Amino acid sequence: MESSEYFVDEALLQRVPKWRNYYAAKLGFRNHWYPVRLSSELGEGQVIAATLCGVELLLKRVDGVVFALRDRCIHRGVKFSDKVECYTRDTITCWYHGFTYRWGDGVLTDILASPSSKAIGKRKVDSYPVEEAKGLIFVYMGDQGATPQPLSEDVPPGFLDDDMVIHSARYDVGSNWRVGAENGFDGLHVYIHRTSPLLASTQRSLPIGHATESGKIFLQEEDGKPKGVLDPFEHHVSLWEGKIGGEVVVKGTKRMTGNNPNRTTGASMWLPGCLRVDNFPDEGLFIYEWYVPETADTHNYVITIGKRLTSEADKAAFEHEFWSRWKPISFEGFNNQDIEARVGLQKFYKDDVAWLDEGLIEGDAPLIAWRELCHRHNRGVQKPEDVR
Ligand code: FES
Ligand SMILES: [Fe+2]
Repeated sequence: MESSEYFVDEALLQRVPKWRNYYAAKLGFRNHWYPVRLSSELGEGQVIAATLCGVELLLKRVDGVVFALRDRCIHRGVKFSDKVECYTRDTITCWYHGFTYRWGDGVLTDILASPSSKAIGKRKVDSYPVEEAKGLIFVYMGDQGATPQPLSEDVPPGFLDDDMVIHSARYDVGSNWRVGAENGFDGLHVYIHRTSPLLASTQRSLPIGHATESGKIFLQEEDGKPKGVLDPFEHHVSLWEGKIGGEVVVKGTKRMTGNNPNRTTGASMWLPGCLRVDNFPDEGLFIYEWYVPETADTHNYVITIGKRLTSEADKAAFEHEFWSRWKPISFEGFNNQDIEARVGLQKFYKDDVAWLDEGLIEGDAPLIAWRELCHRHNRGVQKPEDVR
């Protein structure tokens, strides 16, 4: 793909002044933390590739610590991943002329085919800060040498809490990350989930739609905290029947606990692209899911499910439940419907002009609030020079 395909034309950006930066962020935001792989995908001494915000990376775990380097030799630009050579634990050697870099900081420590070169010790390949938390490997897609913002400002509230036990899975999706994020946070798309097997499994309610009363969205924009748009469902007017000309053609699923339908209580969307859903897929559970930018047309869909637990017995039971129930029925019996929707959306939104042609309605207001929040609070847009 040509690098120009990654970026939106300047004239188009001017047409959406309040969310211009979001529109421009086809490859995501810079100077933010993103989960790129599950910790379980990278064993000790292993090397794996990942793409983040258009940048190809290589990850290695050394003595338990994960490092990330750009997967491109500074000499003639070949990819290390074409033939990984690690002669020592903490270096990687380019297979072409033996340029050897330190995993910890990317510094060129040796050149096997030219050991007296003046470049040794002076030049480096780009390296990126890494943190592991809750079984995810987070990479900071930041400027070289910059001190990263704390991870806690780039994840939804609650995610890092000590008692929040997290299990996760990861899926590759054929849509831009913004299409993924907006599918997740879209209150009206609950319509597509009416056929999910999750509903019978959990005995939960699921309306076929709901109107958000305007003004009931909340923004979290305080300094030093995660930035997000909150859509608490207590303000939603749920719709349980879909009608055409007054005739009911589709029904939602309504199950009552006392006087209330037993349902999800809220959704919120957080920079740089993580949805939190409360009391879903069942009471006492939280979904935190990331739409991690890879290329202009793909994102890395990292879904996690969390539960507040302290005892070891409860944690073991939750782990069993994750593998036997939540992964197959929720991730792969509910979120798979979202993946299909995103692939459908991408056919339209892959064209930059489409973002100006969409016909949104009142219930889409949270999506606009999300775009505008991103515009105001992102720490930088991934630019052509960042992926060149
Ligand atoms: S291209 Fe990597 S050492 Fe020459
Ligand atoms: Fe969904």
